Amino acid sequence: MAPSVAQLEVDVPVSSLKKVIKASPSPPENKAADGPSYPFYFPYFDVNEKFSPTKNHDFVEPGTRADPAKPNILTPNTTINHISPYLGTEISGVQISSLTKEGLDELALYAAERKVLLFRNQDFKDLSPDRQIEIARHFGPIHRHPTSGNVKGYPEFHVVYRDADHDRFREYTGGNKVGQTSWHSDVSYELQPPGTTFFFILDQPAIGGGDTLFLSQVEAYKRLSPTFQEILEGLRAVHSAVPQAEFSKARGGPIRREPIEIEHPLVRVHPGTGEKALYINQGFTKRIVGLKDEESDNLLKFLFDHLAKGSDFQIRATYLPGTVVVWDNRVTAHSATVDFDKNFRRHAVRLTPQAEVPIPVSSS
Ligand SMILES: [Fe+2]
Repeated sequence: MAPSVAQLEVDVPVSSLKKVIKASPSPPENKAADGPSYPFYFPYFDVNEKFSPTKNHDFVEPGTRADPAKPNILTPNTTINHISPYLGTEISGVQISSLTKEGLDELALYAAERKVLLFRNQDFKDLSPDRQIEIARHFGPIHRHPTSGNVKGYPEFHVVYRDADHDRFREYTGGNKVGQTSWHSDVSYELQPPGTTFFFILDQPAIGGGDTLFLSQVEAYKRLSPTFQEILEGLRAVHSAVPQAEFSKARGGPIRREPIEIEHPLVRVHPGTGEKALYINQGFTKRIVGLKDEESDNLLKFLFDHLAKGSDFQIRATYLPGTVVVWDNRVTAHSATVDFDKNFRRHAVRLTPQAEVPIPVSSS
């Protein structure tokens, strides 16, 4: 399962880790034949696995209970580095696994404020799966993905895996495209889509690459004119799980839950910060309610282009051994970066707590 304690990452400053990796004359290869470092998390697909339809659940945003000063996270031992004014903060010197309930509340608020947190040198990947799930459950019931690889006996884990023999991402985004960038917010078609989300890396290409791109949907909204913002605030959009299910079915994969389509407000309000965010994404948003086809298509195209071209409100999240990225799916979109040779393995796991029914501006 997980490596022994002796293999845990040493808690050294981020800058030192970077130097070690750069200075190595022959970086270790992680080619497919070697096998994954954490075989317990190898993606598991059971076409006979079935889940009940998702139901609404009560939800209180943990960040609303947090001390705004975040004394459990921003301790004297904590080092932070803001990646961009709008989103992204790199954090070292604090272990997620050691946070109290109060600390986890602070984590929710900090993730909402900074949109994306890159926790370095974490022992998270070496915790037991039950403990990993217990931590994530603080932020809401864990989403069980209807089609992706999970872990046998642990459907809470969403596994991201790629090596020479397994390249599902490339298949999903299409093998005949000039680029693989695919902006989305995770499973936005759910009744109560994800909020504070955890993603921990297990294997990564020794040659670099495999970053995750993130953008701030809050800053993207702020860039629009007040007149246009007001128009968007009154609109709702349809998010669909159907294409993802069809893809899985076509390749003989599971459909654990019948795919749904659902309407969400096009602008949502975060319950912890009160910030307004665009809530559309190219991955799952299919049309705008009440508009004719051409109106909807052109408005969505404008918004998708606005997000994709917004390099001044985007970041790249980089991975080092032991990195855990925590982001708030309500106020961000992200894309994988498939920029490394297929002979190199990338293996990561997501835990995806579900938050509130998206709050429209009209009821905030
Ligand atoms: Fe994603």
